[in-house]
Amino acid sequence: MLKTIVLIGMMGSGKTSVGKELAKKLNLEFVDIDHEIEKKYEKSVSEIFKINGEQFFRKIEENMSCKFIDGKPGVISLGGGGYINKKIRNKIKTNGISVWINPSLENIYHRINKSTNKRPLLDYKNLKKTIKEIYDVRKPIYKKADHIIKTKSDNKKIIVEKIIKKL
Ligand code: S3P
Repeated sequence: MLKTIVLIGMMGSGKTSVGKELAKKLNLEFVDIDHEIEKKYEKSVSEIFKINGEQFFRKIEENMSCKFIDGKPGVISLGGGGYINKKIRNKIKTNGISVWINPSLENIYHRINKSTNKRPLLDYKNLKKTIKEIYDVRKPIYKKADHIIKTKSDNKKIIVEKIIKKL
């Protein structure tokens, strides 16, 4: 691989678990951007949102994402809002290959609902509605990805096979 594979898509779409599996299969390094941010700032993404605000988070997300997309080829799992940022998108266009993991909203909902990782943008009292609203706004942008993996399966091995076939 000469270019970094960047997994994009909604929160709860499985970018991290699929990314780890894909990297293992291709013998590449795996980086999760949210995880790198949490390591550097010694705070959870939720805490950063609460203490410093979303705008601050978006800026450090931009810096961290661009740094890794510019780095040596590997597999990156981008935060759900990362691809909405034009600078990050352009960086991927020149240095990477974007892959949109696009499961059904039902699938995303179930995954988020059982996850212990509480996403600061979601209203957990109206979870389905909030997920759908965010998805509808972002869909036209996610659609710009180089590859789209539409999947009903929750099985990361099947999704990885689909990605490898596309690549
Ligand atoms: C966000 C998604 C989260 C995290 C932050 C904002 C978003 O990452 O970056 O809560 O705007 O969709 P995941 O997609 O890994 O959940």
